[in-house]
Amino acid sequence: MTDLRSAQWYAGDDRNAYIHRAWMRRGLPDGAFSGRPHIAIANTASDLTPCNIHLNDVADSVKAGVWEAGGVPLNLPVVSIGETQVRPTAMLWRNLAAMAIEEMLRANPIDGVVLLGGCDKTIPALLMAAASVDLPAVVVPGGPMLTGHFRGAPLGCGTDVWRLSEEVRAGTLSHEAFMRSESAMIRSRGHCNTMGTASTMASMAEALGMTLPGIAGTPAPDSRLLALSHETGKLAVDLVAAARRPSDVLTKASFRNAIVTLAAIGGSTNAVVHLLAIAGRAGVDLTLDDFDQIGSGVPLLVDLQPAGRHLMDDLYRAGGLHAALNEVIDLLDAEAITVTGRPLVEHVAGAEIWDETVIRRRAKPLLDDAGIAVLKGNLAPDGAVVKPAAASPELLQHRGPAVVFDSVEDLHARLDSPDLDVTPDSVLILRGCGPRGYPGMPEVGNLPLPAKLLAKGVRDMVRISDARMSGTAYGTVVLHATPEAAVGGPLALVRTGDPIILDVPARRLDIDLPAEELAQRTPSQTSTAAYAAPTRGWERLYIDHVMQADKGADLDFLTGASGPDVGRESH
Ligand code: FES
Ligand code: MG
Repeated sequence: MTDLRSAQWYAGDDRNAYIHRAWMRRGLPDGAFSGRPHIAIANTASDLTPCNIHLNDVADSVKAGVWEAGGVPLNLPVVSIGETQVRPTAMLWRNLAAMAIEEMLRANPIDGVVLLGGCDKTIPALLMAAASVDLPAVVVPGGPMLTGHFRGAPLGCGTDVWRLSEEVRAGTLSHEAFMRSESAMIRSRGHCNTMGTASTMASMAEALGMTLPGIAGTPAPDSRLLALSHETGKLAVDLVAAARRPSDVLTKASFRNAIVTLAAIGGSTNAVVHLLAIAGRAGVDLTLDDFDQIGSGVPLLVDLQPAGRHLMDDLYRAGGLHAALNEVIDLLDAEAITVTGRPLVEHVAGAEIWDETVIRRRAKPLLDDAGIAVLKGNLAPDGAVVKPAAASPELLQHRGPAVVFDSVEDLHARLDSPDLDVTPDSVLILRGCGPRGYPGMPEVGNLPLPAKLLAKGVRDMVRISDARMSGTAYGTVVLHATPEAAVGGPLALVRTGDPIILDVPARRLDIDLPAEELAQRTPSQTSTAAYAAPTRGWERLYIDHVMQADKGADLDFLTGASGPDVGRESH
């Protein structure tokens, strides 16, 4: 089978084919280089990405499946990003990982790839890379961890760290008790068990059609994950035979399904940035407004933290993603196919709900109209996002005076000062935290509340920034204000005391001042001094080329697919 891409390395009896084969043999069976598809396993397992540590076991199951189907599996460790570990923010490295993975997939003698991800940025980076290379590809999401408990109550990863630490600051929980919860937080292998970014992006990978149907949300320690990984290995070989590529699967229709799914499951706001970036790679015309238009009217059905109560293991037990999607099957695009070659709706149809407290029926949703609201106005001309499901209903229409912070450091220095001039009606604004300004658009948009207001029982306020927030966070938090302050967005012009209007039903976000007054302003010195100014390396390349959040914060020269072209012979 010389039409395999890998045959351009291995076929023939010239000196170069000899070199490629000889160095790769190392115990591979005879026939490994004559017509068997070579399947890379792009593996983000790393001891420094704790949520993905178990992916080497997953890779073993994928390998067995590839062998069984007649392929040759090849483990390919790729750049991995541990959300809780890397500084200054994991998002800074998503594009680096995506670029490195793309280049290594293209440079190597492979015919297809299985993408192993889990922790927040890993599945987005893998999908961005796969969309650009456009070799047959399928994702194995590493799965959420089991639920840990503290004092008899379940602990939601991330969400309960935010909640308990605020209780300590409010004086309603002792510091010692908070510290004791630490060892209970991470019960098992796997990624965060809330509907945070990792669980959301696993669901997005499946809704886009890029996984074996039914795998998303399978807990990491569940033996079914290994069985499904084995099946995925077999499927990867079939994908090569069928020449089914990401460009066949990642269509506008599949992104529509992802947006409907995002709303129905109450997924992370970070999915907006990641889906825009993946669409940019796939050449699909997806806009920020699509999230509002396609997602509006979709009911919230999944009652998971941070917007609700339960955790990923509960969702799996209750019937999983397919059970939720079956309730909104009429809203899904029947044209969108998956890696199986069959439509997503066909795989979802008939899935049953086993616990209606976790997955609601369509007729009894948690919210009638979930999804991401896209706001526009003179504070964010190119848009900002808010997740109404995670916000306080009474704050969705709000007018209040701004309290402005120029950086995370400024915030931490002044937030708990008794002198801070702030009331529950104030609107907390953080700037300088967009893709360029920070750099990397960190998850700091869910600003903590001022200690003196927490002590008075205040648990939510309107907060606005050019940052992102953790998918595990909650509150009336307006994120991704675009353009960001560091590229001259109007966020740079706000001053403490300015009246701010948030009107989510009207999709509005404004500074309530005359245009002439704003036109006369220039950014303050303290704000511009806080913007990052790296002189070398990735950070320099990143800030010179990163696009704004409404374009997915990818690098401008990485949009589009360059395909699986085989490079020049190396010898
Ligand atoms: Fe890895 Fe939450 S920190 S998924
Ligand atoms: Mg995160």
